[in-house]
Amino acid sequence: MTTTPPTPSPSRDLASPGEPPLSDPLPLLRGFVSLRRLAGMYPPGHPAIAEKLREMDDVVREHLRSAPAIQIDIIHGDVHLDGVACRPDNQGTEQILHELVELGVHSIHIHRGVEQEELRQVGQFLWDMREGTGGEPVETELARRNVRHVSLGRIVPLDTRWRAMEWPDAPQGPLDPAYHESLALAQQTFETVSAGRPLDLVTVRDLVELLIHKVAQSSAALAQILAVKQYENLTYCHSVNVAMIGLLLGRRLGFDDPTTAALVEAALLHDIGKTRVPLEILKKPGALDKQERRMIEAHTKFGAEILVGIDRVRPLTPTVALEHHRSVTGLGYPDLGDRAIPHVLTQIVSVADTYEAITGARSYRAPGLPQEACLTLARVAGQQLNTALVKAFVSAITFFPIGSLVRTSRDETGVVVRTNPADPLHPVLDLLDESLTAAVGTVDTASRDASGGYERHVVETLRAGEDLDLTRFLAPEPLEV
Ligand SMILES: [Fe+2]
Repeated sequence: MTTTPPTPSPSRDLASPGEPPLSDPLPLLRGFVSLRRLAGMYPPGHPAIAEKLREMDDVVREHLRSAPAIQIDIIHGDVHLDGVACRPDNQGTEQILHELVELGVHSIHIHRGVEQEELRQVGQFLWDMREGTGGEPVETELARRNVRHVSLGRIVPLDTRWRAMEWPDAPQGPLDPAYHESLALAQQTFETVSAGRPLDLVTVRDLVELLIHKVAQSSAALAQILAVKQYENLTYCHSVNVAMIGLLLGRRLGFDDPTTAALVEAALLHDIGKTRVPLEILKKPGALDKQERRMIEAHTKFGAEILVGIDRVRPLTPTVALEHHRSVTGLGYPDLGDRAIPHVLTQIVSVADTYEAITGARSYRAPGLPQEACLTLARVAGQQLNTALVKAFVSAITFFPIGSLVRTSRDETGVVVRTNPADPLHPVLDLLDESLTAAVGTVDTASRDASGGYERHVVETLRAGEDLDLTRFLAPEPLEV
Protein backbone atom coordinates (compact mmCIF):
# COMPACT_ATOMS: atom_id res chain seq x y z
CA MET A 1 0.00 0.00 0.00
CA THR A 2 1.29 3.45 -0.80
CA THR A 3 0.99 5.78 2.16
CA THR A 4 2.18 9.36 2.09
CA PRO A 5 2.27 10.88 5.56
CA PRO A 6 0.85 14.37 5.89
CA THR A 7 3.44 17.11 5.63
CA PRO A 8 3.82 18.91 8.96
CA SER A 9 2.32 22.38 8.88
CA PRO A 10 3.01 23.72 12.35
CA SER A 11 1.47 27.12 11.72
CA ARG A 12 -1.91 25.64 10.87
CA ASP A 13 -4.68 26.52 13.27
CA LEU A 14 -6.54 23.77 15.03
CA ALA A 15 -9.98 23.14 13.54
CA SER A 16 -10.85 26.74 12.79
CA PRO A 17 -14.56 27.46 13.31
CA GLY A 18 -16.71 27.74 10.21
CA GLU A 19 -14.46 25.37 8.26
CA PRO A 20 -15.41 21.91 9.41
CA PRO A 21 -12.87 19.21 8.50
CA LEU A 22 -13.98 16.08 6.69
CA SER A 23 -15.23 14.02 9.58
CA ASP A 24 -17.29 11.46 7.75
CA PRO A 25 -15.46 9.75 4.89
CA LEU A 26 -18.60 7.87 3.87
CA PRO A 27 -19.85 10.39 1.26
CA LEU A 28 -16.55 9.98 -0.60
CA LEU A 29 -16.62 6.20 -0.42
CA ARG A 30 -20.24 6.25 -1.54
CA GLY A 31 -19.21 8.62 -4.34
CA PHE A 32 -16.58 6.18 -5.65
CA VAL A 33 -19.02 3.27 -5.49
CA SER A 34 -21.64 5.35 -7.39
CA LEU A 35 -19.05 6.48 -9.94
CA ARG A 36 -18.12 2.87 -10.49
CA ARG A 37 -21.74 1.92 -11.19
CA LEU A 38 -22.27 4.95 -13.43
CA ALA A 39 -19.10 4.06 -15.37
CA GLY A 40 -20.66 0.67 -16.06
CA MET A 41 -23.90 2.25 -17.31
CA TYR A 42 -23.00 5.41 -19.20
CA PRO A 43 -20.28 6.71 -21.51
CA PRO A 44 -17.74 9.23 -20.15
CA GLY A 45 -19.16 12.76 -20.21
CA HIS A 46 -22.71 11.66 -19.43
CA PRO A 47 -24.49 14.27 -17.26
CA ALA A 48 -25.03 11.74 -14.45
CA ILE A 49 -21.26 11.13 -14.25
CA ALA A 50 -20.47 14.85 -14.53
CA GLU A 51 -22.90 15.65 -11.71
CA LYS A 52 -21.42 12.98 -9.42
CA LEU A 53 -17.88 14.19 -10.18
CA ARG A 54 -18.80 17.77 -9.27
CA GLU A 55 -20.26 16.60 -5.98
CA MET A 56 -17.15 14.60 -5.11
CA ASP A 57 -14.82 17.33 -6.27
CA ASP A 58 -16.46 19.79 -3.83
CA VAL A 59 -15.94 17.45 -0.88
CA VAL A 60 -12.36 16.64 -1.87
CA ARG A 61 -11.38 20.28 -2.40
CA GLU A 62 -12.92 21.38 0.88
CA HIS A 63 -10.85 18.83 2.77
CA LEU A 64 -7.63 19.36 0.85
CA ARG A 65 -7.71 23.07 1.69
CA SER A 66 -6.68 22.21 5.26
CA ALA A 67 -4.73 18.98 4.72
CA PRO A 68 -2.29 17.72 2.10
CA ALA A 69 -4.09 14.41 1.67
CA ILE A 70 -7.21 12.42 2.49
CA GLN A 71 -6.45 8.92 3.69
CA ILE A 72 -9.38 6.56 3.96
CA ASP A 73 -8.69 2.99 5.08
CA ILE A 74 -11.06 0.13 5.75
CA ILE A 75 -9.62 -1.88 8.61
CA HIS A 76 -11.44 -4.57 10.54
CA GLY A 77 -14.67 -3.44 8.84
CA ASP A 78 -14.29 0.08 10.26
CA VAL A 79 -13.56 3.15 8.21
CA HIS A 80 -10.44 5.04 9.31
CA LEU A 81 -10.00 8.64 8.23
CA ASP A 82 -6.37 9.78 8.46
CA GLY A 83 -5.57 6.95 10.85
CA VAL A 84 -8.51 7.40 13.19
CA ALA A 85 -11.43 4.99 13.25
CA CYS A 86 -14.84 6.52 12.69
CA ARG A 87 -18.07 4.64 12.80
CA PRO A 88 -20.44 6.34 10.39
CA ASP A 89 -23.86 5.03 11.31
CA ASN A 90 -25.48 5.87 7.99
CA GLN A 91 -27.63 3.28 6.36
CA GLY A 92 -25.98 1.36 3.61
CA THR A 93 -22.50 1.70 5.06
CA GLU A 94 -21.97 -2.02 5.20
CA GLN A 95 -22.96 -2.50 1.57
CA ILE A 96 -20.53 0.18 0.40
CA LEU A 97 -17.63 -1.20 2.45
CA HIS A 98 -18.45 -4.72 1.32
CA GLU A 99 -18.40 -3.67 -2.34
CA LEU A 100 -14.97 -2.03 -2.01
CA VAL A 101 -13.42 -4.80 0.09
CA GLU A 102 -14.74 -7.41 -2.37
CA LEU A 103 -12.78 -5.60 -5.08
CA GLY A 104 -9.69 -5.74 -2.86
CA VAL A 105 -9.78 -2.00 -2.21
CA HIS A 106 -9.05 -1.38 1.47
CA SER A 107 -7.68 2.09 1.16
CA ILE A 108 -8.18 5.19 -0.96
CA HIS A 109 -5.66 7.99 -0.54
CA ILE A 110 -6.25 11.26 -2.37
CA HIS A 111 -3.52 13.89 -2.58
CA ARG A 112 -3.62 17.62 -3.15
CA GLY A 113 -3.69 18.51 -6.84
CA VAL A 114 -6.22 15.83 -7.82
CA GLU A 115 -8.35 16.61 -10.90
CA GLN A 116 -11.96 15.59 -11.65
CA GLU A 117 -10.72 13.49 -14.56
CA GLU A 118 -8.58 11.44 -12.17
CA LEU A 119 -11.61 10.75 -9.97
CA ARG A 120 -13.53 9.67 -13.07
CA GLN A 121 -10.68 7.38 -14.11
CA VAL A 122 -10.67 5.79 -10.64
CA GLY A 123 -14.42 5.14 -10.95
CA GLN A 124 -13.86 3.59 -14.39
CA PHE A 125 -10.96 1.51 -13.07
CA LEU A 126 -13.10 0.22 -10.18
CA TRP A 127 -15.69 -0.86 -12.76
CA ASP A 128 -13.05 -2.50 -14.95
CA MET A 129 -11.70 -4.35 -11.91
CA ARG A 130 -14.69 -6.73 -12.02
CA GLU A 131 -12.68 -8.57 -14.65
CA GLY A 132 -9.42 -8.35 -12.70
CA THR A 133 -6.53 -5.99 -13.37
CA GLY A 134 -4.98 -8.13 -16.06
CA GLY A 135 -2.08 -9.04 -13.80
CA GLU A 136 -0.82 -5.44 -13.70
CA PRO A 137 -0.17 -3.88 -10.29
CA VAL A 138 -2.87 -1.37 -9.36
CA GLU A 139 -0.34 1.52 -9.35
CA THR A 140 0.71 0.70 -12.90
CA GLU A 141 -2.89 0.57 -14.06
CA LEU A 142 -3.68 3.90 -12.43
CA ALA A 143 -0.52 5.52 -13.80
CA ARG A 144 -1.47 4.30 -17.28
CA ARG A 145 -4.75 6.16 -16.85
CA ASN A 146 -2.88 9.30 -15.76
CA VAL A 147 -4.11 9.02 -12.19
CA ARG A 148 -1.29 10.65 -10.21
CA HIS A 149 -3.03 11.88 -7.08
CA VAL A 150 -5.14 8.91 -6.02
CA SER A 151 -3.81 5.59 -4.78
CA LEU A 152 -5.77 2.45 -4.05
CA GLY A 153 -4.44 -0.23 -1.78
CA ARG A 154 -4.99 -3.47 -0.02
CA ILE A 155 -3.94 -3.34 3.60
CA VAL A 156 -3.57 -7.04 4.32
CA PRO A 157 -5.12 -9.96 2.50
CA LEU A 158 -8.39 -10.84 4.16
CA ASP A 159 -8.13 -13.33 6.97
CA THR A 160 -4.49 -14.12 6.33
CA ARG A 161 -1.55 -13.08 8.38
CA TRP A 162 1.40 -13.91 6.26
CA ARG A 163 2.01 -10.40 4.99
CA ALA A 164 1.15 -8.61 8.21
CA MET A 165 4.07 -6.87 9.85
CA GLU A 166 5.24 -8.50 13.05
CA TRP A 167 6.02 -6.02 15.80
CA PRO A 168 7.19 -6.89 19.30
CA ASP A 169 4.44 -6.72 21.92
CA ALA A 170 6.22 -4.39 24.32
CA PRO A 171 8.99 -1.79 24.29
CA GLN A 172 12.45 -3.20 23.58
CA GLY A 173 15.75 -2.06 24.99
CA PRO A 174 16.56 -0.18 28.19
CA LEU A 175 13.64 1.59 29.82
CA ASP A 176 13.42 4.26 32.47
CA PRO A 177 13.31 2.27 35.74
CA ALA A 178 10.06 3.81 37.02
CA TYR A 179 8.38 3.29 33.64
CA HIS A 180 9.66 -0.28 33.60
CA GLU A 181 8.20 -0.90 37.05
CA SER A 182 4.87 0.63 36.10
CA LEU A 183 4.63 -1.65 33.04
CA ALA A 184 5.33 -4.66 35.26
CA LEU A 185 2.60 -3.64 37.73
CA ALA A 186 0.13 -3.02 34.91
CA GLN A 187 0.93 -6.38 33.35
CA GLN A 188 0.33 -8.07 36.70
CA THR A 189 -2.99 -6.19 37.10
CA PHE A 190 -4.25 -7.16 33.67
CA GLU A 191 -3.10 -10.77 33.98
CA THR A 192 -4.95 -11.11 37.30
CA VAL A 193 -8.21 -9.99 35.70
CA SER A 194 -7.57 -12.12 32.58
CA ALA A 195 -7.22 -15.16 34.84
CA GLY A 196 -10.71 -14.46 36.20
CA ARG A 197 -9.56 -13.14 39.56
CA PRO A 198 -10.82 -9.79 40.94
CA LEU A 199 -8.99 -6.58 40.12
CA ASP A 200 -6.27 -5.93 42.69
CA LEU A 201 -7.04 -2.38 43.71
CA VAL A 202 -4.00 -2.11 45.99
CA THR A 203 -1.69 -2.64 43.00
CA VAL A 204 -3.75 -0.18 40.96
CA ARG A 205 -3.38 2.47 43.67
CA ASP A 206 0.40 1.85 43.86
CA LEU A 207 0.59 2.16 40.12
CA VAL A 208 -1.32 5.45 40.09
CA GLU A 209 1.09 6.82 42.72
CA LEU A 210 4.10 5.59 40.78
CA LEU A 211 2.89 7.24 37.58
CA ILE A 212 2.09 10.57 39.23
CA HIS A 213 5.14 10.86 41.47
CA LYS A 214 7.87 9.02 39.60
CA VAL A 215 7.19 8.40 35.92
CA ALA A 216 5.81 11.91 35.33
CA GLN A 217 9.03 13.32 36.82
CA SER A 218 11.30 11.57 34.34
CA SER A 219 12.02 13.14 30.98
CA ALA A 220 13.43 9.84 29.75
CA ALA A 221 10.20 7.99 30.64
CA LEU A 222 8.02 10.62 28.99
CA ALA A 223 10.14 10.49 25.85
CA GLN A 224 9.64 6.71 25.72
CA ILE A 225 5.90 7.21 26.06
CA LEU A 226 5.40 10.14 23.69
CA ALA A 227 7.74 9.24 20.85
CA VAL A 228 7.05 6.82 18.04
CA LYS A 229 6.67 3.32 19.46
CA GLN A 230 8.20 0.47 17.48
CA TYR A 231 5.98 -2.13 19.09
CA GLU A 232 2.39 -3.28 18.96
CA ASN A 233 0.98 -2.39 22.31
CA LEU A 234 -0.65 -5.06 24.29
CA THR A 235 -3.39 -3.68 26.46
CA TYR A 236 -1.30 -3.10 29.56
CA CYS A 237 1.42 -1.04 27.79
CA HIS A 238 -1.23 0.97 25.99
CA SER A 239 -3.02 1.59 29.29
CA VAL A 240 0.08 2.88 31.08
CA ASN A 241 0.88 5.14 28.12
CA VAL A 242 -2.67 6.50 27.93
CA ALA A 243 -2.65 7.12 31.69
CA MET A 244 0.60 9.09 31.44
CA ILE A 245 -0.55 11.12 28.44
CA GLY A 246 -3.86 11.80 30.21
CA LEU A 247 -1.90 12.92 33.26
CA LEU A 248 0.08 15.45 31.20
CA LEU A 249 -3.17 16.83 29.83
CA GLY A 250 -4.75 16.94 33.31
CA ARG A 251 -1.73 18.90 34.57
CA ARG A 252 -2.01 21.35 31.71
CA LEU A 253 -5.68 21.86 32.63
CA GLY A 254 -4.71 22.60 36.24
CA PHE A 255 -6.42 19.61 37.84
CA ASP A 256 -6.01 19.27 41.61
CA ASP A 257 -4.48 16.12 43.12
CA PRO A 258 -7.68 14.11 43.73
CA THR A 259 -8.99 14.83 40.20
CA THR A 260 -5.60 13.93 38.71
CA ALA A 261 -5.60 10.62 40.61
CA ALA A 262 -9.17 9.91 39.42
CA LEU A 263 -8.12 10.64 35.83
CA VAL A 264 -5.02 8.44 35.99
CA GLU A 265 -6.95 5.53 37.54
CA ALA A 266 -9.71 5.78 34.93
CA ALA A 267 -7.22 6.02 32.05
CA LEU A 268 -5.26 3.07 33.36
CA LEU A 269 -8.34 0.87 33.47
CA HIS A 270 -10.29 2.18 30.45
CA ASP A 271 -9.53 -0.96 28.38
CA ILE A 272 -9.68 -3.51 31.20
CA GLY A 273 -12.71 -5.06 29.42
CA LYS A 274 -10.32 -6.30 26.71
CA THR A 275 -9.20 -8.96 29.16
CA ARG A 276 -12.50 -10.67 28.28
CA VAL A 277 -11.90 -10.51 24.51
CA PRO A 278 -9.88 -13.39 23.03
CA LEU A 279 -6.35 -12.31 22.09
CA GLU A 280 -6.66 -13.75 18.60
CA ILE A 281 -9.50 -11.31 17.92
CA LEU A 282 -7.66 -8.33 19.43
CA LYS A 283 -4.58 -9.03 17.32
CA LYS A 284 -6.24 -10.25 14.15
CA PRO A 285 -4.77 -8.23 11.29
CA GLY A 286 -7.41 -9.11 8.69
CA ALA A 287 -11.10 -8.36 8.47
CA LEU A 288 -13.32 -9.18 11.42
CA ASP A 289 -16.67 -10.75 10.97
CA LYS A 290 -19.74 -9.26 12.59
CA GLN A 291 -19.53 -11.38 15.69
CA GLU A 292 -15.86 -10.60 16.23
CA ARG A 293 -16.57 -6.92 15.85
CA ARG A 294 -19.38 -7.09 18.37
CA MET A 295 -16.96 -8.84 20.71
CA ILE A 296 -14.36 -6.07 20.38
CA GLU A 297 -16.97 -3.37 20.89
CA ALA A 298 -18.22 -5.20 23.98
CA HIS A 299 -14.94 -4.46 25.78
CA THR A 300 -16.49 -1.14 26.86
CA LYS A 301 -19.39 -2.84 28.61
CA PHE A 302 -17.19 -5.65 29.95
CA GLY A 303 -14.88 -3.01 31.44
CA ALA A 304 -17.71 -1.16 33.16
CA GLU A 305 -19.06 -4.46 34.51
CA ILE A 306 -15.67 -5.49 35.91
CA LEU A 307 -15.14 -2.10 37.53
CA VAL A 308 -18.55 -1.50 39.11
CA GLY A 309 -18.12 -4.78 40.93
CA ILE A 310 -14.96 -3.60 42.71
CA ASP A 311 -15.22 -1.99 46.08
CA ARG A 312 -13.59 1.45 46.42
CA VAL A 313 -12.87 1.92 42.75
CA ARG A 314 -13.28 5.67 42.06
CA PRO A 315 -16.80 6.54 40.89
CA LEU A 316 -15.91 7.72 37.37
CA THR A 317 -13.62 4.81 36.51
CA PRO A 318 -16.41 2.51 35.23
CA THR A 319 -18.00 5.46 33.39
CA VAL A 320 -14.79 6.16 31.45
CA ALA A 321 -14.45 2.47 30.54
CA LEU A 322 -18.03 2.47 29.26
CA GLU A 323 -17.84 5.73 27.28
CA HIS A 324 -14.33 5.95 25.85
CA HIS A 325 -15.33 4.98 22.28
CA ARG A 326 -18.09 7.56 22.13
CA SER A 327 -17.56 10.91 20.44
CA VAL A 328 -18.38 14.41 21.65
CA THR A 329 -21.19 14.48 19.09
CA GLY A 330 -22.83 11.48 20.75
CA LEU A 331 -21.83 8.84 18.15
CA GLY A 332 -19.76 5.71 18.66
CA TYR A 333 -20.30 2.67 20.81
CA PRO A 334 -21.87 1.36 22.95
CA ASP A 335 -25.26 2.84 22.13
CA LEU A 336 -26.12 4.99 25.13
CA GLY A 337 -28.75 7.12 23.42
CA ASP A 338 -28.45 10.04 20.99
CA ARG A 339 -27.70 12.73 23.48
CA ALA A 340 -25.25 10.88 25.66
CA ILE A 341 -22.08 12.99 25.59
CA PRO A 342 -19.12 11.46 27.43
CA HIS A 343 -17.95 12.86 30.77
CA VAL A 344 -15.00 15.26 30.51
CA LEU A 345 -12.64 12.69 32.09
CA THR A 346 -13.66 10.29 29.31
CA GLN A 347 -13.06 13.01 26.74
CA ILE A 348 -9.52 13.47 28.07
CA VAL A 349 -8.89 9.72 27.94
CA SER A 350 -10.19 9.66 24.34
CA VAL A 351 -7.66 12.32 23.28
CA ALA A 352 -4.82 10.41 24.97
CA ASP A 353 -6.08 7.09 23.56
CA THR A 354 -6.18 8.45 20.00
CA TYR A 355 -2.67 9.94 20.20
CA GLU A 356 -1.31 6.73 21.70
CA ALA A 357 -2.95 4.57 19.05
CA ILE A 358 -1.51 6.63 16.18
CA THR A 359 2.04 6.70 17.55
CA GLY A 360 2.01 2.93 18.22
CA ALA A 361 2.58 0.24 15.57
CA ARG A 362 -0.19 -1.98 14.25
CA SER A 363 0.07 -5.15 12.24
CA TYR A 364 -1.32 -3.27 9.23
CA ARG A 365 0.73 -0.07 9.53
CA ALA A 366 3.91 1.45 10.91
CA PRO A 367 3.66 3.86 13.86
CA GLY A 368 2.87 7.49 13.06
CA LEU A 369 5.13 10.38 14.03
CA PRO A 370 3.99 12.70 16.87
CA GLN A 371 3.42 15.57 14.45
CA GLU A 372 1.18 13.37 12.28
CA ALA A 373 -0.74 12.36 15.40
CA CYS A 374 -1.17 16.02 16.40
CA LEU A 375 -2.46 16.92 12.92
CA THR A 376 -4.91 14.05 13.02
CA LEU A 377 -6.17 15.09 16.46
CA ALA A 378 -6.68 18.60 15.08
CA ARG A 379 -8.65 17.23 12.18
CA VAL A 380 -11.08 15.21 14.29
CA ALA A 381 -11.46 17.94 16.93
CA GLY A 382 -15.06 19.02 17.25
CA GLN A 383 -16.36 15.77 15.76
CA GLN A 384 -14.83 12.90 17.67
CA LEU A 385 -12.80 14.82 20.21
CA ASN A 386 -13.28 17.94 22.28
CA THR A 387 -11.62 20.88 20.47
CA ALA A 388 -10.50 22.69 23.63
CA LEU A 389 -8.92 19.51 24.98
CA VAL A 390 -7.11 18.86 21.69
CA LYS A 391 -5.71 22.41 21.72
CA ALA A 392 -4.54 22.00 25.33
CA PHE A 393 -3.06 18.62 24.47
CA VAL A 394 -1.10 19.81 21.43
CA SER A 395 0.29 22.74 23.38
CA ALA A 396 1.30 20.40 26.25
CA ILE A 397 2.82 17.67 24.08
CA THR A 398 3.91 19.85 21.14
CA PHE A 399 4.60 18.66 17.63
CA PHE A 400 8.12 17.78 18.69
CA PRO A 401 7.93 16.08 22.10
CA ILE A 402 11.09 15.48 24.09
CA GLY A 403 13.03 12.50 22.83
CA SER A 404 12.15 13.23 19.17
CA LEU A 405 14.95 13.03 16.62
CA VAL A 406 14.66 16.10 14.37
CA ARG A 407 16.40 17.93 11.53
CA THR A 408 16.83 21.70 11.60
CA SER A 409 16.77 24.28 8.80
CA ARG A 410 20.60 24.31 9.07
CA ASP A 411 20.61 20.61 8.26
CA GLU A 412 21.65 19.65 11.79
CA THR A 413 20.32 16.53 13.49
CA GLY A 414 19.35 16.76 17.14
CA VAL A 415 17.29 15.30 19.95
CA VAL A 416 14.61 17.39 21.63
CA VAL A 417 15.72 17.62 25.26
CA ARG A 418 13.38 20.36 26.46
CA THR A 419 10.17 21.84 25.15
CA ASN A 420 9.47 25.52 25.32
CA PRO A 421 5.94 26.23 26.64
CA ALA A 422 6.01 29.80 25.32
CA ASP A 423 7.10 28.65 21.87
CA PRO A 424 6.12 24.99 21.38
CA LEU A 425 7.48 24.79 17.82
CA HIS A 426 10.98 25.82 18.92
CA PRO A 427 12.33 23.31 21.43
CA VAL A 428 15.83 23.00 22.92
CA LEU A 429 17.97 20.42 21.11
CA ASP A 430 21.09 18.42 21.80
CA LEU A 431 22.82 18.41 18.41
CA LEU A 432 24.32 15.06 17.44
CA ASP A 433 27.46 14.18 15.54
CA GLU A 434 27.28 12.46 12.16
CA SER A 435 27.19 8.97 13.61
CA LEU A 436 24.32 10.04 15.92
CA THR A 437 26.16 8.63 18.90
CA ALA A 438 27.34 11.74 20.75
CA ALA A 439 25.93 15.15 21.55
CA VAL A 440 28.12 17.96 20.23
CA GLY A 441 26.29 20.87 21.85
CA THR A 442 22.96 22.24 22.97
CA VAL A 443 20.96 24.85 21.04
CA ASP A 444 17.74 26.65 21.80
CA THR A 445 15.85 26.85 18.50
CA ALA A 446 13.86 29.76 19.97
CA SER A 447 17.02 31.93 19.77
CA ARG A 448 16.82 34.80 17.35
CA ASP A 449 19.49 36.54 15.29
CA ALA A 450 20.26 40.27 15.19
CA SER A 451 17.41 40.95 12.76
CA GLY A 452 14.89 39.31 15.10
CA GLY A 453 14.36 36.17 13.00
CA TYR A 454 14.81 32.65 14.32
CA GLU A 455 18.35 31.31 13.90
CA ARG A 456 16.96 27.92 12.96
CA HIS A 457 13.69 25.99 12.82
CA VAL A 458 12.89 22.36 13.24
CA VAL A 459 11.92 21.27 9.74
CA GLU A 460 11.07 17.61 10.24
CA THR A 461 10.96 14.69 12.64
CA LEU A 462 13.15 11.77 11.65
CA ARG A 463 12.43 8.14 12.38
CA ALA A 464 15.16 6.88 14.66
CA GLY A 465 16.62 3.45 13.88
CA GLU A 466 15.61 0.75 16.34
CA ASP A 467 19.14 0.51 17.75
CA LEU A 468 19.31 4.23 18.56
CA ASP A 469 18.36 4.92 22.17
CA LEU A 470 17.63 8.63 22.24
CA THR A 471 16.58 8.68 25.88
CA ARG A 472 20.22 8.44 26.95
CA PHE A 473 20.50 12.10 25.97
CA LEU A 474 17.77 12.94 28.49
CA ALA A 475 18.38 13.35 32.18
CA PRO A 476 15.84 11.67 34.47
CA GLU A 477 14.71 15.03 35.75
CA PRO A 478 11.35 16.77 36.13
CA LEU A 479 9.77 17.97 32.93
CA GLU A 480 7.86 21.21 32.78
CA VAL A 481 4.43 20.65 31.30
FE1 LIG B 1 -10.88 0.81 24.01
